[in-house]
Amino acid sequence: MNIGGKAYRTIWFENNSVKIIDQTKLPHQFIIKDLLTVKDSINAIKKMEVRGAPLIGVTAAYGLVLSIIEHKDQSFLKKSSEDLIASRPTAINLKWAVDRMMKKLLGVNSSEVLKIALEEAKMIAEEDVEFCKNIGLNGLKIIEEIYNKKKNTVNILTHCNAGWLATIDWGTATSPIYHAHKKGIKVHVWVDETRPRNQGANLTSYELNEEGIPNTIIADNTGGILMQRGQVDMCIVGTDRTLFNGDVCNKIGTYLKALAAKDNNVPFYVALPSSTIDWSIKDSKDIPIEERDSAELSFVEGLDKDDKLQKVLIYPQKSKSLNLAFDITPAKYVTGLITEKGICEASKNGLKKLFK
Ligand code: MRU
Repeated sequence: MNIGGKAYRTIWFENNSVKIIDQTKLPHQFIIKDLLTVKDSINAIKKMEVRGAPLIGVTAAYGLVLSIIEHKDQSFLKKSSEDLIASRPTAINLKWAVDRMMKKLLGVNSSEVLKIALEEAKMIAEEDVEFCKNIGLNGLKIIEEIYNKKKNTVNILTHCNAGWLATIDWGTATSPIYHAHKKGIKVHVWVDETRPRNQGANLTSYELNEEGIPNTIIADNTGGILMQRGQVDMCIVGTDRTLFNGDVCNKIGTYLKALAAKDNNVPFYVALPSSTIDWSIKDSKDIPIEERDSAELSFVEGLDKDDKLQKVLIYPQKSKSLNLAFDITPAKYVTGLITEKGICEASKNGLKKLFK
């Protein structure tokens, strides 16, 4: 995807270091940061310099590469893998990527281990790009269908950032939108601000602007009235973990949007690569929901009148606040899952038909 007209990926390996775009600085500053150690990778995931389920998976895979560059001993590698998995609990791609790497690396002798690790991490990243591209081509069909009926701009609502910044390229929820735009279909995106970290306003709107796609940021509670007024043709969101029964865990607020969509007969799609499917947990109550620092709610950051970044307190000093980062949308509210292999019903049968 393009930034200032130049194509970028969100993560890459160069000269024994991992390069990332520091997402905590966007949209005001575009800074490429070097990760040199596994600790750097863990911190980048925890502080959300990188975020989004597929991207944190790939960052963890490269984190293991950095761990091997630091020490070629298997006990350090094992400890690194555990620390990486613990860095954020909800997105399953993190554990999926670390487990996949460790399967290749455990017991491998020290002369080969780095080469194998690097190859596997690159392969996970390349696969994600391919998956996201195909999610886009599959989701494009839905947008095209609406456009052919409506013969006018398709209004799509999205929540959080499930864009290229959350993946390696293309994004999940945004990939059908990018493909539609490239095909000349008129699209406009309603971007949920996505409090408290504002991934919608800071990241989704930013990347859509860079690609020249019309978009409007809305406060998180605005989607309902827009749907009642017929101003939303479809919703597409991403997911951090989708159970094999079709229940979707995604950024806090997704559930309320799905309820509003159901009440207004607006199709509600979830876009995901297969690396986000949890085939083991049966009950969504068992998904670990991340609780983040309440300061993310009570402080906001932005540019002051002198264009300097400032953080300010917006809550009463004595107030308590609760910062749950994700919620669960039951499968019954999901119109369909858009995957790299096709679109399916959000159910065990639907997923099984695509993924044996
Ligand atoms: O807390 P974040 O910013 O990592 O949460 C990201 C999301 O909720 C995304 O929707 C999800 O990871 C899918 S990204 C393709």
